[in-house]
Amino acid sequence: MKNVVITGSTRGLGFCMGKEFLNAGCNVTFSGRGEAPNENLKSLMELYKDQTFYVQCDVRKIDSIENLWNESAKKWKKIDIWINNAGVNYPDDYIYNVNQKYVESVIDTNIKGMIYGSQTASKHMIEQGEGQIWNMEGLGSNKMMVVKTILYATSKHALTYFTRGLAKELSNTNVKVGRLSPGMMATDFILNQPERSALDESFKKIFNILGDKPETVAKFFIPKMLKNTQNDAHIVWLTTTKIFFRFSFSPFIKRKVL
Ligand SMILES: NC(=O)c1ccc[n+]([C@@H]2O[C@H](COP(=O)([O-])OP(=O)(O)OC[C@H]3O[C@@H](n4cnc5c(N)ncnc54)[C@H](OP(=O)(O)O)[C@@H]3O)[C@@H](O)[C@H]2O)c1
Repeated sequence: MKNVVITGSTRGLGFCMGKEFLNAGCNVTFSGRGEAPNENLKSLMELYKDQTFYVQCDVRKIDSIENLWNESAKKWKKIDIWINNAGVNYPDDYIYNVNQKYVESVIDTNIKGMIYGSQTASKHMIEQGEGQIWNMEGLGSNKMMVVKTILYATSKHALTYFTRGLAKELSNTNVKVGRLSPGMMATDFILNQPERSALDESFKKIFNILGDKPETVAKFFIPKMLKNTQNDAHIVWLTTTKIFFRFSFSPFIKRKVL
């Protein structure tokens, strides 16, 4: 049984991954910025009382991340898997229109938060002798460029570079580092994107072809993570082959995610 810590696991993919780890018999520390778990998370924790723990953690603050490790290590003794999942979006717009507050939230959460999480987990995992760190990719992790999203994409491009570099730096230790690529999911990240009033029809059309529920992606990720023994692993949900088949069959198979 593994002990798992997931940043940003109060909802969306982080929450669904936590649920899958619980189903697999793991212990899970859930976390988010709130002082206490929300109602949905509270209900899940009621069902898995002995396997769950909540720690308030704002990944933008390194002390808060250190506290997440310390409290989790106190509770579970050892942390086997640490996932830097917390991430934020911003309103799609040309970069010259983007408010400074979004530049700060995207960089502080998606880049600095992920770096602080990786520093903290790798330092302690080296001390404890082993462990796995996973970072969550997104648009920009590959070379795809989409106008009006370049701030977010820059953060995920940086995440990918950093994570591969970290895997290299830790290659002579028993700490493994990997990347998760979740594709497009119907979560608050998309559905409650800041300053977006409604999803336009063309976006919905593409999303219904390529998008998925976070539950589906979590079910795919967790068994693979639990089996992983490789350093620099890359688990990809929405592969090029899957994209090709989804588009090819879209006239015949109507998917409704949104
Ligand atoms: N949805 C997609 O299509 C998609 C696609 C590719 C990649 N991703 C990536 O997948 C990850 C999860 O996204 P999601 O779609 O599940 O998003 P989501 O539903 O919006 O959930 C985001 C999670 O991050 C937490 N969070 C936000 N800021 C935080 C902070 N400063 N400190 C700690 N936690 C924070 C939130 O918790 P609180 O609000 O409770 O703090 C929440 O649990 C992100 O890294 C995102 O970039 C998403």
